[in-house]
Amino acid sequence: MSSLVNCNHFAIHRLPSPFSSAIATRFSRHISNVSVSSQSQQQGIQTPPKIGFLGLGIMGSPMAQNLINAGVDLTVWNRTKSKCDPLISLGAKYKSSPEQVAASCDLTFAMLADPQSAMDVACGKYGVANGMGPGKGYVDVSTVDVDTSKLINGHIKSTGALFLEAPVSGSKKPAEDGQLIFLTAGDRNLYQNAAPLLDIMGKSKFYLGDVGNGAAMKLVVNMIMGSMMASFSEGLLLCEKVGLDPKVLVEVISQGAINAPMYTTKGPSMIKSHYPTAFPLKHQQKDLRLALGLAESVSQSIPIAAAANELYKVAKSHGYSDEDFSAVIEALKTKFQNSENQ
Ligand SMILES: NC(=O)c1ccc[n+]([C@@H]2O[C@H](COP(=O)([O-])OP(=O)(O)OC[C@H]3O[C@@H](n4cnc5c(N)ncnc54)[C@H](OP(=O)(O)O)[C@@H]3O)[C@@H](O)[C@H]2O)c1
Repeated sequence: MSSLVNCNHFAIHRLPSPFSSAIATRFSRHISNVSVSSQSQQQGIQTPPKIGFLGLGIMGSPMAQNLINAGVDLTVWNRTKSKCDPLISLGAKYKSSPEQVAASCDLTFAMLADPQSAMDVACGKYGVANGMGPGKGYVDVSTVDVDTSKLINGHIKSTGALFLEAPVSGSKKPAEDGQLIFLTAGDRNLYQNAAPLLDIMGKSKFYLGDVGNGAAMKLVVNMIMGSMMASFSEGLLLCEKVGLDPKVLVEVISQGAINAPMYTTKGPSMIKSHYPTAFPLKHQQKDLRLALGLAESVSQSIPIAAAANELYKVAKSHGYSDEDFSAVIEALKTKFQNSENQ
């Protein structure tokens, strides 16, 4: 059954309660310059907030799909247009540039590969900033470094719009299941406005203060994860070399204090040298590189992460960029170790 919630400025169609009333109420408080047709006004019907989503890769696609499934009025864009098609068939609208999405939406999300693509989409030609203005909001959920996030913040804020960085912890499956963890920082009003949408895509959210704090927290988390995976890879291979069954190692770890879901989900396929991509290895190496920069900015020594980064670089150089980051184990295999040492 269709639900229609009236409020000062918006009505949300199709959204199941409580998201409908929460979004409507929060948007109505903070985003006030969205036009409502005179016919609609006469009938007391308000326009639902329009939400944009840019970047439909491994993470962006399921996140956008969850918004559509919740009844959000969604407009999408992706550099490779074909990735928009499944979402368009589910009811999403399409615009042909980030600028057009931002211009036609009240709040726009972006989930992009790296600092360069996040900058290009936000601030480049036909970028988001050209379509932004007072009353609008931009939420960048990509993993980037602190400086990039601050630069994007500056460009967006100069248009009169609000900015929130909100990188996510969680991978492909949590994105599909709406179980992401958002690490947000920036404009608190926008955080409050966006909260019902973040709650559709995630299971929890942290507000960390000034722009840059979300980016930094995300890099620390992924720095730890990258080192954990490199260490786990060493353990699996050492087990094998000394004649132990690595499957038993996975089982032993799963019952002890160092257990982590990452080991039990990825271990069995790593043993078979299969790396179905949930988190591309190239992005893990990017995050380690950015974490090294973060550490350097405060003169903090992170030798374990630095060593792990070298392994991911070796794996990249041998063609594993687009495989899952668990393919870092390949960099430790004899064939590559020998060639690296020559
Ligand atoms: N996968 C994970 O488990 C995971 C978890 C947490 C955070 N993250 C972070 O989330 C972000 C996205 O990750 P993902 O796994 O979804 O990556 P992905 O599958 O590689 O998707 C990257 C997205 O960025 C777009 N893109 C790349 N370069 C671009 C450019 N120059 N201009 C415009 N668009 C560009 C891609 O467009 P095309 O389709 O045209 O290539 C695609 O939509 C990354 O920052 C990653 O570190 C990923």
